[in-house]
Amino acid sequence: MINNQNILSRRQFIKTFGIIAAGMTLMPKAAFSETRKPITHAIPSSGERIPVVGMGTSRTFDAGGDPAMMTQLGQVLQAFFDNGGTVVDSSPMYGSAEMVVGKLLKTMPDRSKLFAATKVWTYGRQSGIDQMQKSMQLMGVGVMDLMQIHNLRDWKIHLPTLREWKEAGKIRYIGITTSHGRFHSELMQIMRTEDLDFVQFSYNIGNRTVENSLLPLAADRGMATLINRPFQRGSLFRKVKGKTLPDWASEFDCKSWGQFFLKYVVSHPAVTNVIPATSKVHHMVDNMGANFGRLPSASIRKRMERYFEKL
Ligand SMILES: NC(=O)c1ccc[n+]([C@@H]2O[C@H](COP(=O)([O-])OP(=O)(O)OC[C@H]3O[C@@H](n4cnc5c(N)ncnc54)[C@H](OP(=O)(O)O)[C@@H]3O)[C@@H](O)[C@H]2O)c1
Repeated sequence: MINNQNILSRRQFIKTFGIIAAGMTLMPKAAFSETRKPITHAIPSSGERIPVVGMGTSRTFDAGGDPAMMTQLGQVLQAFFDNGGTVVDSSPMYGSAEMVVGKLLKTMPDRSKLFAATKVWTYGRQSGIDQMQKSMQLMGVGVMDLMQIHNLRDWKIHLPTLREWKEAGKIRYIGITTSHGRFHSELMQIMRTEDLDFVQFSYNIGNRTVENSLLPLAADRGMATLINRPFQRGSLFRKVKGKTLPDWASEFDCKSWGQFFLKYVVSHPAVTNVIPATSKVHHMVDNMGANFGRLPSASIRKRMERYFEKL
């Protein structure tokens, strides 16, 4: 028989399940800090090591001032730091994303862990300077760890400014970005002739064309690589929907398709860091699983390719 004492009051319910929910978000942190160290790769130009899984902010962090989304994205960013993440990639092109990252960081004790990366995406020297100053102010950073020229835009004009800023200590590393196969021949020409710390481009198990071009060139030239679109904007998940992860994924500590895709990317010898984007806490926790454990060997990578192609 049901009586009032058997029914949890709304307050009790929130208290009980609120504590459970809080415990669930803390669990990965405890696991990380007590027993696990993230996988790290070195930035060739300095030797500084960074955890292999970073995060992107395109679309996912363009939340304006929406209070519910700000709360959710705060939890996403916290889960990222809790699981050893440091590299956050943004751009003035991503609407309010830089501002959202900056606002959220203000409330976080973990903000000192941040490796901040953004981009200049405009034409003209002064316009570039103004935009970079605004980005630093929006993200709330005194020194930008990585400043990149977005999609090669006006790169001949911006590159000297980036070098001056690096010399002056306003930025630590400089780079250039592109994505989904655009501008590859021009980017390769730049990589052959200019000194850059980082290059950013797309690479994933469904689109491996850069294995014969940008990746070996970056390795030859001693440039760190930041890999965007590791899930092909989410379309890789649609391809594997309802499909079982192979048993042998456990050989490289992989428990989900998200980790399968990310570990595939970061196990390429020329890849420094990957920047998947998500607006969901459970996806962030899942993705950050790829920041730990073993990586697939060269022969397992071949097996992953064959398995994925047959799906
Ligand atoms: N030219 C450039 O410089 C350039 C170009 C493109 C991208 N980028 C950078 O690279 C970042 C990543 O690229 P991207 O955002 O285009 O694509 P992406 O990371 O390949 O895919 C993002 C999509 O995957 C979904 N997702 C993430 N984790 C998931 C999981 N565990 N399970 C299921 N779905 C998941 C996200 O949806 P949910 O929100 O639902 O999780 C989102 O729709 C960008 O945010 C940006 O910082 C730079």
